[in-house]
Amino acid sequence: MAKHFVLNTGAKIPSVGLGTWQSDPGVVGDAVYAAVKAGYRHIDCARMYKNENEVGIALKKLFEEGVVKREDLFITSKLWCDCHAPEDVPESLDKTLSDLQLEYLDLYLIHWPFRVKKGSGISNTEDYIPPDIPSTWGAMEKLYDSAHVPPAVDQVECHPGWQQTKLHNFCQSTGVHLSAYSPLGSPGSTWMNSNVLKESVIISIAEKLGKTPAQVALHWNIQMGHSVLPKSVTEERIKQNIDVYDWSIPEDLLVKFSEIKQVRLLRGDVIVNPHSVYKTHEELWDGEI
Ligand code: A2P
Repeated sequence: MAKHFVLNTGAKIPSVGLGTWQSDPGVVGDAVYAAVKAGYRHIDCARMYKNENEVGIALKKLFEEGVVKREDLFITSKLWCDCHAPEDVPESLDKTLSDLQLEYLDLYLIHWPFRVKKGSGISNTEDYIPPDIPSTWGAMEKLYDSAHVPPAVDQVECHPGWQQTKLHNFCQSTGVHLSAYSPLGSPGSTWMNSNVLKESVIISIAEKLGKTPAQVALHWNIQMGHSVLPKSVTEERIKQNIDVYDWSIPEDLLVKFSEIKQVRLLRGDVIVNPHSVYKTHEELWDGEI
């Protein structure tokens, strides 16, 4: 099983990365430390997760102890919605770099195609500003120090319960790598009403292969050619989630994933309303809802 995928820039994105969304300060550092020790080489961060500072402390410790070198890690972060103005983009990257105690990132994403006034949250409609993605992207290209960089990665919700078939095909045809967030269907987010790991198809495949439902869910994504970013702060699960390389789901079982009911879990409800640039979910998700 591929340990990495090659991006259109030539960079290699490890096929499993540690997710850090909803990992509280106080535990995220230990999770990062345990993950790198367990063999993870990709950490998915964001300024919005409000824990980059602690991730940075853990990374520093790992470098100082010689567990890993910076160049062997792939670190992702994201530009938050209040910093889309071209002049705010470099400053925002600097803040992330200083929190993470790094000189560079391997991947910098626009967190959401949604914009608010600087310093504002995303729930107050008076703070909305129409996004201007080309100008934000232009500022990110400048950071990349070369002109007209095609997007290399689209990081989206993707798991057996929301397979993104249309987007998968689009990414394949355009050379954009799809990276999966909530690859387990975010079982800990009870407000999302998620039950991907309890799907009978997944449970029966897991039993047949002697793996856990989480491992089967992650493997489906990797076999689709997507990197995965499972979040965990539990060492046993962190280890389990990267133990995916020396086996695969056979073709006759892979076809069974098409039986799973498809539900988008992270619907972006908070940014869909009459004051927003997205009046309906169909507009936000190009009809894929
Ligand atoms: P915890 O962090 O307490 O270990 P996703 O990445 O799809 O958003 O899912 C994250 C959720 O899945 C977290 O609640 C995490 O719990 C839980 N989780 C992570 N790995 C596993 C696993 N191997 N088996 C079951 N649940 C898991």
